[in-house]
Amino acid sequence: MMTAPRFCQVGNFEGYFCVKRNGKKGRRLNAKKQADSKQEQAQAEKIMAESKNDPKSFFPAELPRLGDSELKTYLDEHTVKLLRGVEPPRATLRQLKCGLASKDFLDCGEVYRATLGHWLLHREFNIYKRLEGIDGIVQHVFMPHKRVLCMDYLQGGRDLKAVPVGELPHSALDQLCNLIEKIHSRGVIHFDIGHDSNGDYGRETNILWKDNKIYIIDFAGSICGSPKPLFELLAVHDRMAIVKVIRKFFPQEKIDPHWLPTPNQAKWLRFLRKL
Ligand SMILES: Nc1ncnc2c1ncn2[C@@H]1O[C@H](COP(=O)(O)OP(=O)(O)O)[C@@H](O)[C@H]1O
Ligand SMILES: [Mg+2]
Repeated sequence: MMTAPRFCQVGNFEGYFCVKRNGKKGRRLNAKKQADSKQEQAQAEKIMAESKNDPKSFFPAELPRLGDSELKTYLDEHTVKLLRGVEPPRATLRQLKCGLASKDFLDCGEVYRATLGHWLLHREFNIYKRLEGIDGIVQHVFMPHKRVLCMDYLQGGRDLKAVPVGELPHSALDQLCNLIEKIHSRGVIHFDIGHDSNGDYGRETNILWKDNKIYIIDFAGSICGSPKPLFELLAVHDRMAIVKVIRKFFPQEKIDPHWLPTPNQAKWLRFLRKL
C-alpha cells in the first residue's frame, strides 16, 4: 500500500470559493481556471521550498517498486499538464504538481519502454549528471523510478522559437555561446540544437528562455566522449545554433567563422545527417 505523497495533501479550497463567488458560468470557469493555476504554482513553490535539498522526498518510498502501469497511473494523477501530445515512440513529457518535469516512455509498447526507452532515459540521466552545476542546465535531475526521469520544471520558460524578435537581449547570445562551450568542455555534444545551416529552426530548438536566462534541455540525442576529430565536427554542428539565433534576433551581428562549418565539415555533416 502506497502512502500519499506530500503534494497530494494540499486541498483545492481557493478554486472552490472563487467559483462560489462568481455569477456567470463562463466567468466562474475562467476564475476557477486562473485560481487553479495560481494555486498549483503556489503549491509547487511551497513544496519546492520545503524540500529544496531533497527533491526525492516528493515521491513515496514505495515508488521504485511500482510496476509500469501503476507508475503510469501515479504519474497521470500527479500531472498538471502534458508538455506536448502523446506521440509514441517519443517520450511523454509532463509538468508534475510538485514543480518538477518528468520524462517517461510509459505510453510506448512494453518492449520499447523496457529496451530502447529504458536505455535512452538512463543515458540522458547520465549526461545530465556529467553537466551538473553548469549555469543554464536544469537542476535536480534524478530518477525516482527506473522508468522515469525528473528534473526542475522551468516554469514560464519559452522555446526560442516562440520568443519574438526584439525580446531577446544581446546578453542572451553571450550566455548561449558560454553555455555551449561549457557543455563541450565536459565532453558532451548536444546534437539537437543546430539542425540547419540555412538558419531555419527545426521542430523545436531545445533552447529555453526564462527569467533572462538561457537554458539548454533535452540531451536525449547527445553524444559524449567521441574521438577528437569527430567531436570537433559535431561541436560545429552545435555552434550552428548560435548562427541561427544571430540570424533571427541580431541580423546586424557579425558571424564568427568559428561558428560555421568549413566546406569539408559541411560535407561530413550532410553525410552524418543522411545516416
Ligand atoms: N524541464 C523542463 N521545464 C520546462 N519545459 C520543459 C522541460 N523539459 C521539457 N520541456 C518542454 O517539453 C518539450 C519537449 O521536451 P524535450 O526534453 O525536448 O523532449 P523530446 O526529446 O521529445 O524533444 C520542450 O521543448 C519544452 O517545451
Ligand atoms: Mg526536444
